[in-house]
Parts: sequence; structure tokens; C-alpha cells
Amino acid sequence: MKYKMKSLKDSVKGYINSVNFFRWGVFVALFTITGGCYSVKSITPTENDVARVKDKYPGYSLTDLNRGKDLFVNYCGNCHKHKNPASKTEEEWTVIVPKMSAKANKKSLVLDENAQQDILRFVITMRDASR
Ligand code: HEC
Repeated sequence: MKYKMKSLKDSVKGYINSVNFFRWGVFVALFTITGGCYSVKSITPTENDVARVKDKYPGYSLTDLNRGKDLFVNYCGNCHKHKNPASKTEEEWTVIVPKMSAKANKKSLVLDENAQQDILRFVITMRDASR
């Protein structure tokens, strides 16, 4: 009888531990998911960013930069998580954006040349942002 009581107590403990473990797992998973998305969503372009590229892209405005960001967030996170603009060099982005846009277009997400240019300018401008 005593033994039985003990084993019941132990199995309850075991159950509680597994529930805690599960909760911890969910917490970690949620943190990872939201953390992963947050990193790009938190990139908020400012006039400072526009000023940094004003010689490279004459006439470029914050509106243009934000349009690139919206396209990037909406289209480039479709098949994989958004990539960090700082993760590639300017030369790499120049190759990757048309290549990925072709993938997007196959999925009928449709990124025309203007949209591709907006995305390319966004990643190149923001890769140098210290955020
Ligand atoms: C239709 C699905 C799809 C869409 C939409 C898409 N990608 Fe990709 N992307 C992939 C796949 C699949 C890979 C991995 C295989 C590869 O590199 O081709 C990848 C890989 C990448 C890589 C890593 C390449 C490397 O060489 O390290 C980058 C950066 C990237 N994508 C950026 C983008 C950007 C920017 C956009 C928006 C213009 C985009 N992706 C849209 C499917 C997609």
C-alpha cells in the first residue's frame, strides 16, 4: 500500500514535469518564431537611410524605400523566413533578387521589374543600417 502511494505520487510528479517541459518547449518555439520574424519587421527605414544612398539613387525617397520594404516583407518571406538585408553583399543581392523574383513569379506572386528594383534598393540600403 505504501509502495503504491509512492509510485502514484511519483507518476504525478513525472506528469507535472512533462507538462512543464512541454510548456517550455512551446515558449521556446514561439520565441523562435516571433523572434525570427521580428528581426526584419523591426527594420523601419528612416530619412537617415535615404540620405545614405542619395548619391547612388538620385531622387530616391522614403516612400520608395518603404515600398521596397513592403514588397520584401510580403513577397520574400513567402517560402522561407525573410533574409536579413545585412546577410548578403550588394553584389550578391544583385544576383539573388532577380533569381528569387523568378521563383516568386513561378508561384504567380508576380514581381515586375519595378518591384524588383524596389526590393533590391531596399535590401542594399538597409544592409548598411546599424539596426
Ligand atoms: C517561390 C518560393 C520563394 C520565394 C517567393 C522567394 N524565395 Fe528565396 N529561396 C527559395 C528557395 C527554395 C531557396 C533555397 C534554394 C536556392 O538558393 O535557390 C531560397 C534561398 C534564398 C536566399 C539564400 C540564397 C543563398 O545563396 O544563400 C536568399 C538570400 C533569398 N532566398 C532571398 C529571397 C528574396 C529577397 C526574395 C524576394 C524577392 C525571395 N527569396 C523569395 C524560395 C523562394
